[in-house]
Order: sequence, then structure tokens, then C-alpha cells
Amino acid sequence: MMDSSLLTSLFTLSLSLSFFLFLFNLIRSTARSKGRLPPGNVGLPFLGETLQLISAYKTDNPEPFIDDRVSKYGTVFTTHVFGEPTVFSADPDTNRFILQNEGRLFESSYPGSISNLLGRHSLLLMRGSLHKRMHSLTMSFGNWAIIRDHLLEDIDRLVRLNMDAWTGRVLLMEEAKKITFQLTVKQLMSFDPCEWTENLMKEYMLVIEGFFTIPLPIFSTTYRRAIQARQKVAEALSLVVLERRRDVERGERKNDMLAALLDDEGGGGGFSDEEIVDFMLALLVAGYETTSTTMTLAVKFLTETPRALAQLKEEHDEIRARKAETEALQWEDYKSMPFTQCVINETLRIANIIGGVFRRAMTDVTIKDGYTIPKGWKVFASLRAVHMNQDHFKEARAFNPWRWQNNSGTSSTTNMFTPFGGGPRRCPGAELARVELSVFLHRLVTQFSWEPAESDKLVFFPTTRTQKRYPILVQRLK
Ligand code: HEM
Ligand SMILES: *[C@@H]1O[C@H](CO)[C@@H](O)[C@H](O)[C@H]1NC(C)=O
Ligand SMILES: *[C@@H]1O[C@H](CO)[C@@H](O)[C@H](O)[C@H]1NC(C)=O
Repeated sequence: MMDSSLLTSLFTLSLSLSFFLFLFNLIRSTARSKGRLPPGNVGLPFLGETLQLISAYKTDNPEPFIDDRVSKYGTVFTTHVFGEPTVFSADPDTNRFILQNEGRLFESSYPGSISNLLGRHSLLLMRGSLHKRMHSLTMSFGNWAIIRDHLLEDIDRLVRLNMDAWTGRVLLMEEAKKITFQLTVKQLMSFDPCEWTENLMKEYMLVIEGFFTIPLPIFSTTYRRAIQARQKVAEALSLVVLERRRDVERGERKNDMLAALLDDEGGGGGFSDEEIVDFMLALLVAGYETTSTTMTLAVKFLTETPRALAQLKEEHDEIRARKAETEALQWEDYKSMPFTQCVINETLRIANIIGGVFRRAMTDVTIKDGYTIPKGWKVFASLRAVHMNQDHFKEARAFNPWRWQNNSGTSSTTNMFTPFGGGPRRCPGAELARVELSVFLHRLVTQFSWEPAESDKLVFFPTTRTQKRYPILVQRLK
């Protein structure tokens, strides 16, 4: 089903935005007769195939949109979505080629409405050497040694703190969001949950809503409210940065991301307040919705697959049996959760929180089968299409965590399973997300039994989530 405001928005967007691009590209691609575009259909004038894409992704089975085109044109095809002609790749080798050549042949490309919310200096929008520096700084703060020595304890504590308040009916998605938000704030600037973080989260949620008002943000009140909220969040964060600069002058140093950004020796230093604030906001954006949705969907898939839930529970009960009731999880405990890792991989594979990544060709690029992507064109590397392909994963559309046992889940080539992307922009939070998911599942299955409070289903537009935020009825064990 399609609501009419969205339709209107899309239509106006297409008129205003794609009219010129469409003509421009038409003229240009006929003028340049050398390269051959991948086959495909650009759909209706202006609107392209956007409506087909959206209506497919609004159902619980968006696969036909890709399947139909792959069977007609092959795994790399041309379409026209969100106001621009786009080369769509459902091919693992082409995806790898696109991701690896970030900064050389392709660059990340987000719509202007999203850039405004992220801030000019956000990591997601950065390019070149600054991006390299910021990316490795983020990596150095999310690597396994830091998680083992510092973050794991915080994660375990904050997960438990939140679950302690659960009774009766729980909106799992909301709870998961609270947990991931608190974790990120802790990791960034060492704040434990308090009134300040609560208020920050309220404003921040308004910002997040703004991300999903594309495609016609300028006329949307949600978007305007989001921009205002962004201003407030940025002001609050600026104050924190200011205070911390003073602390640094006094020789005090905390062990968190902000300290690394301010520290000349730790690879940071020399960043402006604005750059630091944009950076922190981007980390909140990147880690929050993704991880909390994955938590929620893991629980949904497990609930629908009782045998997997039973096996998972057994694994975690064994860990608990070795420890006192509330004793914190250690790194060795995390390392002894093999089936949990299968569940997490399978959830990431089948849920595809980030279904793919948008890039723009920086030059004419020749790809597989001699096709050419013209300079300036949008490219969509679909991670989802590979994960859901029956040739790469047997019965690809079923939730089957056992396929990962004996490392047999993915065929020998590593580029079949890329939930965290790849190349220079590969997710720097991947390990952290895995640990957060593992701890969350550990505390959930060892403390509660639950059942769905009502039926709820997956949808994929504008983002992957369940329609009703997955309400469950929980019961504390013992
Ligand atoms: C299940 C959870 C997560 C998934 C599925 C996920 C997925 C991804 C993917 C696919 C990308 C690549 C985007 C691109 O190439 O354009 C990415 C980038 C990124 N992720 Fe994650 N992510 C998750 C959790 C996190 C967490 C917890 C953090 C933060 C601590 C984080 C921080 C980032 C950042 C900063 C980038 C941008 C990297 C860059 O552009 O250099 N992510 N993520
Ligand atoms: C993994 O190995 C075990 C024991 O070697 C076997 O019982 C099981 O069926 C294997 N699982 C898969 C998915 O191949
Ligand atoms: C899960 O996927 C990662 C690749 O992202 C892989 O390295 C790991 O071995 C997989 N885990 C299992 C249990 O198969």
C-alpha cells in the first residue's frame, strides 16, 4: 500500500530533481557511444522504477523486485530509482570491485537531505585522506582489545540495567534502541544513563525520524523538526567537547572515543569542535538503528524457530552455570558462544539491515562482461541480493543458523557474505555490534521466557524493521 503523500512527494521530487539529470544523461550517453550500459529498463519517465521498488519493499517479500530483473537482464542491470538512473549490482564480484575501489573509481554518495542531518564533517560523507584518518581512529576504538578490556563490561552492565526494568509487555525494538543508544554514548564520552542522556536521546530520535522523510524533505515538518533537533543535539555535544578540552589542559584523560579525538598522540588532535560533533553524531546514527534492529530481528527469528532458541539457551545456560548469578561476562565467555555466532550471522544474512550501498562512478568504469558505468552515474551494490541468492546459500530464504556450523555457511569465497560492507568503508563497528548482540542474547535467554504479544511482520521500507516494534510478553525465569 502506498500513502498518497509519499506518492506526491515522489512525483514532485522526480520532476524537480531528475528532469535535468534524465535529459542530461540521455544526451550524454547517446553522445558517447563507446561504452555499453548494462541491460535494463529505466521505467516511466522521471519516476523510473521507484514506485515498483517501494511497493516491493513495503511488503514482507521484496525479493521479486530483484529476482525479476536478474532473471531478465542478469546480475548487473540498469534501473532508475530515487530520481536517477542507477546501475544495480546483485553480483558478488562486481560488489567487491565497487567496494574495494572506493575513492579511486567510486565514491560514497548520499542525498543532500541526509548530508544536512549528518553534518558536513560526518565520517559517512568524508572522502580522501581525512576519511582514512577518521576511519582508522574509529577502528582503533572499536577493536577487539578495547572491547575485551573496557567495553564488554559496560555492555554487560547496561544491558542488565535495562532488562532489570522489564515486566509484562515490552516493545522490544524500543528497549533495544535504548540499550544501543546508551552504549554508544558511554563509548563516545563515558556518560552513564542519566537525565542528560535521556534528553539527548529524545532530541536525537527526532533527528533520526528526519532521515526517513526522504524523498521530499524541504516541505516536510518532520524534516524541519529534525534539523532543529540536530541543532540542539549538536549544541549539547559541543558543550561536552568544550568541557573535555579544559580537562585535557588540566592533564585529565578519560578512556573513550572523545579522548582519542582530542589526543594528539592517539591519532586524533587538530580537529575542530564542529568536526568532532559531526563525527560523534555520525557514530550515533551508524550504530544505533542498525544494531537495535538486528537485536530485535534475532529475537523474532528465534521465537519462530524454537529448536534454534532451545539450542541457544543451552549454550548460555552452560556459561551461566560456571558463574555466579550476576557475575559479569568475560571475554572467554564471549569466545565460547559458537552457536550464538551462527545465529548472529544468519540474522545479519537474512535481515540485511543495510540492504546495499550507494556509490557514484568517478569516471567511466568498465565492469564484468564489458559493460560500462558512465561517469557520474549512481551505482547500487546490493548486499541483500547476494545474501538471498539460492545459488550462494542453499534455501537462502529460510532462517537456518545451522548452515554456519563447521563454517559451511558461506562458500569458499569471502565476498558472498558482507553484511558490514567491504573495502575502505567497511563498518568499523562490526566487532562491537557482534559483541553487543551476543551479550544481549545472553542476558535475554538466561533471564526471561517470552512470547509475541501480537503478530508482527517485517517490512523493508523506508528501513528494515517490524511494523509494530515487536511487542512481547516477558516472564522472568525462577
Ligand atoms: C548490525 C549492526 C551494523 C551493521 C549491519 C552495519 C553495517 C554497515 C555497513 C554495510 C557499512 C558500510 C556503508 C558503506 O559502505 O557506505 C557501515 C559503515 C559504518 N558503520 Fe556500521 N553497521 C553496524 C553497526 C555499527 C556500529 C555499532 C557502529 C559504531 C560504533 C557502526 C559504525 C559505522 C561507521 C562509522 C560507518 C562508516 C564507515 C566509513 O564510511 O568509513 N556500525 N556499517
Ligand atoms: C557439522 O559437523 C557435525 C559433526 O562433525 C555434524 O554432525 C553436522 O551435521 C555438521 N553440520 C553441518 C551443517 O554440516
Ligand atoms: C560469521 O561471518 C563472518 C564473516 O562476516 C565469518 O568470518 C565467521 O566465520 C562467521 N561465523 C560462523 C560461525 O560461521
